Amino acid sequence: MSLEEDIRAAADTIRSCEEVTIISHIDADGISSEAILAQALSREGIHVSTTFVRQLDPLTLDQIPNNSSLKIFSDLGSGQQQMLIEKGLDPSKTIIIDHHVSQPAEGGDPFIEVNCLNHGHEKMSAAGVSYLLARELDPIYRDLAKLAIIGNIGDMMDREHLCLIGPAREILHDGIHHGTVELWERDLNIYGISTRPLPQSLAYSDDMEIPGVSRDPDGAGKFLERIGIKPLQPNRWPVWEELSFDQKQQVCSAVIEQMMAHGKDTSRLFADHYIFPDEDRHQASLRNASEFATMLNSCGRWQRPELGGSICRGDRVVAYREAEHMLRNHRSKIREVMLYITETGVTELSHMLYLHVGGRFPDTIVGIGAGMALSRLNPEKPILIMCEDSLDPSMTKISMRTRPEVVSKGVDLQQALTLACEGREGCSGGGHRIAAGAFIPRELERAFIEDVNRILAQQYA
Ligand code: C5P
Ligand code: C5P
Repeated sequence: MSLEEDIRAAADTIRSCEEVTIISHIDADGISSEAILAQALSREGIHVSTTFVRQLDPLTLDQIPNNSSLKIFSDLGSGQQQMLIEKGLDPSKTIIIDHHVSQPAEGGDPFIEVNCLNHGHEKMSAAGVSYLLARELDPIYRDLAKLAIIGNIGDMMDREHLCLIGPAREILHDGIHHGTVELWERDLNIYGISTRPLPQSLAYSDDMEIPGVSRDPDGAGKFLERIGIKPLQPNRWPVWEELSFDQKQQVCSAVIEQMMAHGKDTSRLFADHYIFPDEDRHQASLRNASEFATMLNSCGRWQRPELGGSICRGDRVVAYREAEHMLRNHRSKIREVMLYITETGVTELSHMLYLHVGGRFPDTIVGIGAGMALSRLNPEKPILIMCEDSLDPSMTKISMRTRPEVVSKGVDLQQALTLACEGREGCSGGGHRIAAGAFIPRELERAFIEDVNRILAQQYA
């Protein structure tokens, strides 16, 4: 079956039901996916309730109400089909909407599974799939395209090509036509274009090494002042969004010049940005897709996914105020994780880097810190971070991250972790080639790490 046929099959099943339970993931993609599905289904007159989970495991599956509603798993489920069967889910009343690597149940494929990866679309997230399903229910639901873009960006579907491609790009065009999304094509590749003082944005871009600017916000400030870009008031630098066209040109030229003079690679200097003109400039954290996604992560990864859900549904008063606190906390904590990893230092094995951060940080944010730390360490090797499972200290959570160049050499983190889990009681893992995770019993840490390193060596070979 094609992706379109899978979407139609899911839409037909949904149209024939009255009640749906959505089980979704707690990250930006899971939250935006849920908001797309729940809003589209409610508009169809279907009663919807939602359970957010950190990961699908036998324990979290017990939280799902045992009633006759249609169950829709979003942003998870593809990798846990055997477990869903063992837990007794009725395949005729279960839909999986996902983009993780699929691991079919033993003896077949009983569920309605809509997974873009199964159809060769690697650069689209669950929110994208959810949107295509919503649009199949009624083409009028194009207002939800904005949420799909947020989910895609939250899961970094633009990271390799520095823009959205394939079906995710078509969704972008829906958003642009609807008027809620603006595309800033091949703009400067920095994060925080709506909220971060420009020197900070320039200093902390992971993708470009600008001598005298990178990792040095004071240096970045002086660099800007030399080309005539100054604080708007004492200590109040403009954000990228506030610069005029000419000022932006000036900054880009100066950055190119500085990098070329020092022989730096400028191939990742420009990236697409997705702006939301309907969001108030005073609520700048929602003005572009990547910062909006960070806000959703700051809710979901800190046990408040439903708060992110309210933001997706348009609550800009009560929910926004609370989410701002979540965001402040999230930003300082992920910075702490990143600094902890880089300052403590990682152990270098033949084919990977690893570190155990103990119980210092919740397992829901360690993966983000790992991704941020990678570019400051040896990005040639994948990084593996272990931490105590926040819900069960006898278990260890593993997060792995690598870079597109490493994946193109044959490395597949999802495969490495699932192979290392195979045949080991209590181990489960999954994810993507570029980013994957697992839960393992604590006593297996050493053997597990050795196995992962060995499997990576085989992948490189
Ligand atoms: O659950 P899941 O799919 O959402 O998580 C994807 C993770 O992979 C995110 O943390 C995202 O940041 C990371 N990722 C990455 N590089 C990519 C794509 C995804 O680090 N190119
Ligand atoms: O938790 P973390 O951000 O490191 O997860 C990276 C990717 O691995 C995510 O896509 C997540 O859904 C997946 N994962 C998984 N099984 C686990 C842990 C993480 O599929 N046990």
